[in-house]
Amino acid sequence: MAMEQNNNTSQPQKAMLFALAFLLSLNHASSMYTVYNPIKPRHSRLLKSAVQRETPTSQLSELWAPLENHGWKPFVESTKPTALPEKSEGYIQVFLDGGLNQQRMGICDAVAVAKILNATLVIPYLEVNPVWRDSSSFSDIFDVDHFIDVLKDDISIVKELPDEYSWSTREYYSIAIRETRIKAAPVHASAHWYLENVLPVLQSYGIAAISPFSHRLSYDNLPMDIQHLRCKVNFQALVFVPHIRTLGDALINRLRYPQQADGEMSPNYIREVTGASASNAGKFVVLHLRFDKDMAAHSACDFGGGKAEKLALAKYRQVMWQGRVVNSQFTDEELRGQGRCPMTPEEIGLLLAALGFDNSTRVYLASHKVYGGEARISTLRQLFPLMEDKKSLTSPEERTLIKGKASVLAALDYYIGVHSDIFISASPGNMHNAMVGHRTYLNLKTIRPNMALMGQLFLNKTMEWPEFQQSVIEGHENRQGQLRLRRPKQSIYTYPAPDCMCQAQ
Ligand SMILES: *[C@@H]1O[C@H](CO)[C@@H](O)[C@H](O)[C@H]1NC(C)=O
Ligand SMILES: *[C@@H]1O[C@H](CO)[C@@H](O)[C@H](O)[C@H]1NC(C)=O
Ligand SMILES: *[C@@H]1O[C@H](CO)[C@@H](O)[C@H](O)[C@H]1NC(C)=O
Repeated sequence: MAMEQNNNTSQPQKAMLFALAFLLSLNHASSMYTVYNPIKPRHSRLLKSAVQRETPTSQLSELWAPLENHGWKPFVESTKPTALPEKSEGYIQVFLDGGLNQQRMGICDAVAVAKILNATLVIPYLEVNPVWRDSSSFSDIFDVDHFIDVLKDDISIVKELPDEYSWSTREYYSIAIRETRIKAAPVHASAHWYLENVLPVLQSYGIAAISPFSHRLSYDNLPMDIQHLRCKVNFQALVFVPHIRTLGDALINRLRYPQQADGEMSPNYIREVTGASASNAGKFVVLHLRFDKDMAAHSACDFGGGKAEKLALAKYRQVMWQGRVVNSQFTDEELRGQGRCPMTPEEIGLLLAALGFDNSTRVYLASHKVYGGEARISTLRQLFPLMEDKKSLTSPEERTLIKGKASVLAALDYYIGVHSDIFISASPGNMHNAMVGHRTYLNLKTIRPNMALMGQLFLNKTMEWPEFQQSVIEGHENRQGQLRLRRPKQSIYTYPAPDCMCQAQ
């Protein structure tokens, strides 16, 4: 699904998405040679000061310093696996839509549901996303043998259904109503719901296929061992296949040691890091910039691209959501004041500059596609000349292995994100949440932008840089990765404490 937040895609919506993906592909082909008009900076006064900024060394070393030990440690290592059931009640199959990060949560929940039901899990099926169109399977992304091995004492997992159930395929369920399909699992269903509604199907047919399955298991009121198991899947069982990890490690190495780039790199990539103070030598920030057309259109905000851009986004909105975008009732100013507009590359650049990141900061840009392309990124690049991305860091040979595979690219970004010194996302969403969770688990710095504050600051056209900077620093003091305990209804994958972590003695 294009909008990651939207979890409940109905069938007509899906059909429409396919149609749209087709239209977009045509549109893409014809617009390949379009020259983008330069997009003017919207905050040129702030930008002018930001370009000339100089950060005191003391502020820099504080910025890059690791988080203090928060006194919590991962649970999973110390917990005993719960015994395997004596007999399996049958096979559980799940079909997962959404982007890779949404599918990841689905995988963790599928393991938990199989455990609740004493069932055998079939390696989850990853649906092809209509917008990103990547047909990578589970085993193209995740190390299947590792997955099965880590969980072997908790649940039984099979790579494929045995022959007698081989009829139970995605195609089988897509053409008719079937008794073995569980179609109506409520969002955040309880363990009890599964025992009442799915166990009987397993007992009658030996198999149950749950689809849709995203966000279909409650975060609350589950036995502790089930919660621990979900954590174990997310943080231990799910690792990427070796070739994604190897490429990820190579990219991380090139970010940390740009002057010793390995033989594969052309001399253009070898840049001396000038002015890097000792405290941030070898360190880098990952900036997740989700600013694609889909998101820009859905937000209904104005991004300064003039009348043509406004029209293009309104048209896209109409085709895609047919007037169902609630935000379009508000003016741009109202939306900004409420923090509902994704930050543009320029705006996230100003936020980072105000926090004290200087022009020697190495930034890795994790993003799929930026609406407006390089024209929109150039302001950010002006603030952070040492900015890299998948393209600048890889050789043409390496690129052929990942090109066009959205899930592999997302996996690579996830891997680099988990290994960075600091992570920041320009907009809330599944990637942001997954990183907040995983990095909390590892006690790593993650900056959570204060969207409402930033929206209000950017509305003020008279504010000078020192005041802007002061407000940004104050507004982000407690948003750098300090551990926050999960509250009811919040995701265990975003807030892993206390379910996945315990206080160290
Ligand atoms: C970085 O900023 C400093 C201080 O404003 C400036 O002297 C220097 O030229 C800048 N370096 C680059 C590469 O822009
Ligand atoms: C699952 O197996 C355990 C241990 O064998 C048993 O106590 C539990 O009642 C079983 N649950 C279901 C739903 O069959
Ligand atoms: C803009 O910021 C300035 C300086 O902080 C402040 O005096 C002024 O009231 C703000 N304007 C608005 C409209 O908020």
